Amino acid sequence: MPGILAAREWPAWPEFVSPKDVPTSAADEATFQATKAAVIQEYGEKALTESWIQTCAELEKVTAEIVDKDRDMISILKMEDIVAGRVSDETRARMKETGCFVVQNVIDPATTNQLFADLDRFTEVNKGRYRSWPEDNPSIFTLFNTPTQNAARTHPNQLQLMKWINNLWHWSESSTDVSAEPLLYADAVRKRPAGSPFLGLGPHIDGGSLCRWADPVYKKAYHPVFAGNPEEVDVYDLDARKNVKFDLFPGRAHTSVFRSFQGWTALTRTAPREGTILLYPNVKTVIAYVLLRPFFQPPEDPSKVMDASQWKFDPNPDQAFFPGTKTWESQRLSALSHPHLRLKECLVAVPELQPGDTVWWHTDVCHAVDAEHIGKDYASVVYIAAVPTTTANKEYTQQQYLQMAAGLPPKDGGEMGVDESKLEGWTGFSENSELVKRLMGF
Ligand SMILES: [Fe+2]
Repeated sequence: MPGILAAREWPAWPEFVSPKDVPTSAADEATFQATKAAVIQEYGEKALTESWIQTCAELEKVTAEIVDKDRDMISILKMEDIVAGRVSDETRARMKETGCFVVQNVIDPATTNQLFADLDRFTEVNKGRYRSWPEDNPSIFTLFNTPTQNAARTHPNQLQLMKWINNLWHWSESSTDVSAEPLLYADAVRKRPAGSPFLGLGPHIDGGSLCRWADPVYKKAYHPVFAGNPEEVDVYDLDARKNVKFDLFPGRAHTSVFRSFQGWTALTRTAPREGTILLYPNVKTVIAYVLLRPFFQPPEDPSKVMDASQWKFDPNPDQAFFPGTKTWESQRLSALSHPHLRLKECLVAVPELQPGDTVWWHTDVCHAVDAEHIGKDYASVVYIAAVPTTTANKEYTQQQYLQMAAGLPPKDGGEMGVDESKLEGWTGFSENSELVKRLMGF
């Protein structure tokens, strides 16, 4: 079965084939050069090349399977199966490998329809008094504490699900500051009108960009990838990431917290070609490839590009080109800059979601937002992630609570947020103050 994107035109998402495609400041350039030199000095040409060859060989298998199975790659679970403990070890293992899955019926449809109606009213009545993007066709509203978001985040099923998802990761018993108990991270909300094209979020990976190579803790979390044995990387080791500085470089796209999985909770129906999300159903081979890519240059002959052995190791720090990496944005990817990923065939649209369904993807998973929305109604989602308890996460969410209780946007909302307490219909945490306070780390 061909991937849905293969059947139609690839959206006009940017390509990152030359340094000109990724503008950087002089200061950034020096940082890129130093970052590249440090990785090479630590691991050397031999180990990096071994990893490159192995990873590209593994990608041949990964991509063949995705092209064959397309959206059957994405596990579909039901909330009631999670509650009843009916998810098999086999399904769990599969979900961990693909790094993405759907959980249906987390919030019942009637409640969800009401939540959407409330959001619709809130955003209409307050129009012009909050920020949104893209400017020409707003669909993502940088509101963080509407009654709808607050209710969707604290729904008992949602909390149970977040805990279950956090438990897909592991940590040592001595990490007494870590637990699967969910913390609430306040993100924005989307109400995308029918017919609106959107090219703002092409293929990308969240959880920072250059910090994956530049932050010593983050780099260490990927040690086997650089050390010549990429198969051994453990992308579910929470201890390895709990102290990562995801916001090492300032940028609106970067979150301060560690999210085990990012998620969408659908407030309305969404479907392929109707404003949904596209996921690349693989975690560890894709991230290994992205991490290794800046150290190799493609062959000049385009017919040899898919032959990994034809790529040249590039030790020169003056040519520090990290394709798709801008310090202030999420890690971008493109079809030409990351050819072995076969993005045009392997980015899979998630199956149709009904109101109250959720979709989740690992923090290293490549994803994109549907460029099209040819449906008839709003495609609306609340961004709700699974955030485990760690010392750093708690520090952030405590601060977040204090700001939001006062009506202010959370720190990560930055200059895009407004004083929401001035908006009509704002209730803050008055409905569930004690619960929210606890879920924000107090
Ligand atoms: Fe994203």
